Formats: sequence, C-alpha cells, structure tokens
Amino acid sequence: MTDQKPNHPSLILAIETSCDETALSILDINGLAIRSHRIHSQADLHAEFGGVFPNLAKREHSKNFLPLLQLVFKDVFSDSFDKSHLEKLPSQSADFTDTSLTEIAKNISSESSVKILKTLSREDNLGPELISYLNSIPAETFGEIRQNLHGICVTYGPGLEPALWVGISAAKALAIAFNLPLYPINHMEGHIASVLSTAGANVGSTVSENKSPAENSVESNKIEVQFPAIALLISGGHTELISIENWHAYSLIGKTVDDAVGEAYDKVARQLGLPYPGGPRVSALAEKYRQNKLNKQQENANPTQSPEELQEKIDEKFTLPRPMIHSKDLNFSFSGLKTAVLYTIKKITDNNSRELTEDEKIRLAYEFEEAAADVLIAKTKKAIIDSGSSSLLIGGGVIANTYLRKKFTELASELQIDLHIPEKDLTTDNASMIGLVAALQIRAEMPGIMPSAEAFEHIVANGNLSL
Ligand code: KG4
Ligand code: ZN
Repeated sequence: MTDQKPNHPSLILAIETSCDETALSILDINGLAIRSHRIHSQADLHAEFGGVFPNLAKREHSKNFLPLLQLVFKDVFSDSFDKSHLEKLPSQSADFTDTSLTEIAKNISSESSVKILKTLSREDNLGPELISYLNSIPAETFGEIRQNLHGICVTYGPGLEPALWVGISAAKALAIAFNLPLYPINHMEGHIASVLSTAGANVGSTVSENKSPAENSVESNKIEVQFPAIALLISGGHTELISIENWHAYSLIGKTVDDAVGEAYDKVARQLGLPYPGGPRVSALAEKYRQNKLNKQQENANPTQSPEELQEKIDEKFTLPRPMIHSKDLNFSFSGLKTAVLYTIKKITDNNSRELTEDEKIRLAYEFEEAAADVLIAKTKKAIIDSGSSSLLIGGGVIANTYLRKKFTELASELQIDLHIPEKDLTTDNASMIGLVAALQIRAEMPGIMPSAEAFEHIVANGNLSL
C-alpha cells in the first residue's frame, strides 16, 4: 500500500527508547525543524544500580510513553485539541475484549485495535491505554494528526533490547492506528544527524520538557555539511570513527577495542566515589584543577623560586598512559586507562589504607580527562588527515563535555575544517536526532514500511546494530 494522503504531509513523529531516556519528538521534514521535543530521563532511577538496568528501563518506557505522546501531540496540534483529554491519562486497565472494543471503537477500528493489542501485548497496559487515548481524541483532531503526519520513525538499535522493544512496538501500534509508514532508524546515525540541530535558532537552550511549543520549535534549518566528513561518536556505549561519503553512506573506520570513553568516565567516577552518570562529575573536578592551576599561575606571576622541580615529582605519581595513541590503526582502548587510575589510587593511598583527599580526586579527574582527550584528538586528527575530510561531526553524550568541545574546536581550526557539534541538550539521547535521520531519508525518497503483519515482523530490536 502507498501513502494516499493528498496534501504532502510534512511532519514526522520520532520515538527513541534505546537506553534510559524515553523520548518523543515531532519534526517538520521540509525545514528539518523540531516542532516538539520531549524527554523523560530515568537516570536517577538507575543511579543506585551504578548503570542502566534493562528491565527497569523497559518498564519505565512503557509507563512514560503515553504521557509523552500526549505532550508532543499537544505541542503541535494544540489549537484544535480538546485539552480536557490531555491532562489525565485514560482510564487504567480497561478490560478489553473484542466485544468491548467494537462498542467503544471510534478513531480506531476494532480490526486495528486487535492488531495494536497484539503488537503491544508485552508492554504491560500500554496497548489498552493507547487505544483508549487515541479513541478519546476528537475525530477531527485525529484526522488532522493523520493528515499532517508523513510517518513514524523509531530507533531499532543499537541499545538495550528490552528497552528498544517498547519504542518499536509502540511505533508499530501508532503506524497501524494512523495507517502510516514506519521508518526504523539506527541510533548511531541519529547521533551523527544530531549536528543538524545546531543551525537556525538555538535549539539546545530552548528545547525542554517544560517549554511551550513555540519555544520548542525551530523555524528552519540551513546547515550544510561538506563531504567527505568524519564522524566521531562518543557515548556510554560507543567510541567510533566513521567515514561519511554522503548522508546514508557510512563506513566504520575505527572503534574501541574494549570500553567506550563514556563508560571509562563512569567507571573512573565510581573509583573516585562519584555517582552515575559520572562523566559530568569527573569533568567538573577536572575543570576545578584547571582553574586552580590558572589561579596559582597568576599568583606566581613573579615567583622568587620556581616550584617546577617539586611539581615534577608530584606529577610522576599521577601520570596516566595514553593507550593506543601511537597505534597505526584508528582504534581506541580505554580499559587500560581506567585500570591505570585504579593502580594510581592504590599507590597514593598506600594500598587503599586511606580515603583519597579532595585534592587527589581533583588531580586524578584532571589527569584522566587529559589522557582521554589526547587519545580522542590524536585518532580523530589522523582520520581527518588520512581521508582528506572537509568536516568533522561529533555526536553522543560525551560531547556535552565543555573541555572536549574546546579541544575539538581548536583541532578544527588547526586543520581548517568545519566542525559540527550538536547543542548540549541534543548530545544525550533524544528523539529529535532520530527524526532528523528519517527526515533526511524521506527527502532522499527512501521508502518507509507500510503496516502489515508480514512487513512488521521483520522490524526487530537489534542491540548490536552497527552503521
Ligand atoms: O549518548 P549518551 O546519552 O548515552 C549512550 O551511552 O548512548 O551518553 C551517555 C554517556 C555517559 O557515559 C555519561 O557519563 C557521558 O555520556 N557524559 C559525559 C558528559 N556528559 C555525559 N562524559 C564526559 N563529560 C560530560 N560532560
Ligand atoms: Zn546514544
């Protein structure tokens, strides 16, 4: 079946549930403009496990999906929405049988309802609640949503499979409900496309769960990426260098052989007694060291005696390796760096016979960040030079890091290439980046998958999906 709607619908609904963020967005395909951007983070819930706990993530995604769907619809279609339907969740746990469905069916036919319930059968009450909600939307508004939506897109990997399944099943259910094509999207391609959010209005600082639709929207996006380009993806699960010939034409040219850089930040944070997610906390400590050093330098502008010799002795104890920095390939290794931090802690605390002092923690965080930055910069530089690339795109949670942003800005100016980094709010997992990939696909006339049992059977979660 093909899309038969008349007036070129221009919106796409995007869904992302690959890890611990439940996220939904609506984008305008034409201007690559974000019309609604909503995220519910579970980070606090997972903190006590020291990482993301897959089955808890799955349960939370199921619980949060519908309230977020209501919000994004409200953001974009609010004028015609009867708001009384939006403030509360539909009645809980309705006992849906085929007969009751036929009786209450309004926007959703009983045939579609059966398919939706089957699709969402493993997601607690999401199936019945979704049908109940969709049927509670005034028919005119439901028609308006369908008229304006071109399709639904969803992350199908990589990520935690139980978590991915919630988004995939919900996306299939919505595709059935609105009879729209579905676009399965690679999460890592989303991180690459997230750089497209930097153009036009300042998305990063305006997009928020609590902002109005007007504040959340970006009018147009005129970003141009010069190819060939190199993408560096740095997150809690990935450290990858990708060569990009053009949108949708990627090849993986380097990756971590063990831990991802974000994972190393998180593990070092734990060693320093800091809670998950540790990246921003380690980085804040490192920044403190830089600031202290700067202050000291200013104080000692005219030192009577040089403290350098003494400093060198202290430095020796804290010096960390730069794993694989001179290897001929473009791969990374961060596990050794994390272990080196562990040994250093043992050494300076006399085999853990005492706690680290605050100054030592600050110093270690700084040394770790410098080592990680040196390796990331060296390998990325090599990739750019080897490939003769004109642009560098960086995505993933770790590029929220202010110091790394500064270092990569310096690298780009040294190599005289364009640097594209997403606004900070779009570095961590979100649905807008997934919508941006789908929008690029639609603009390139790549087809989505129309709802049918046979076609949808092939759309499955792929935890290890690569580019
Ligand atoms: O992309 P992301 O939100 O999730 C995935 O892993 O896919 O990345 C999360 C990772 C975590 O490891 C977190 O510690 C790290 O990004 N991170 C940072 C910073 N902010 C987040 N690492 C270093 N510095 C930061 N400011
Ligand atoms: Zn991610």
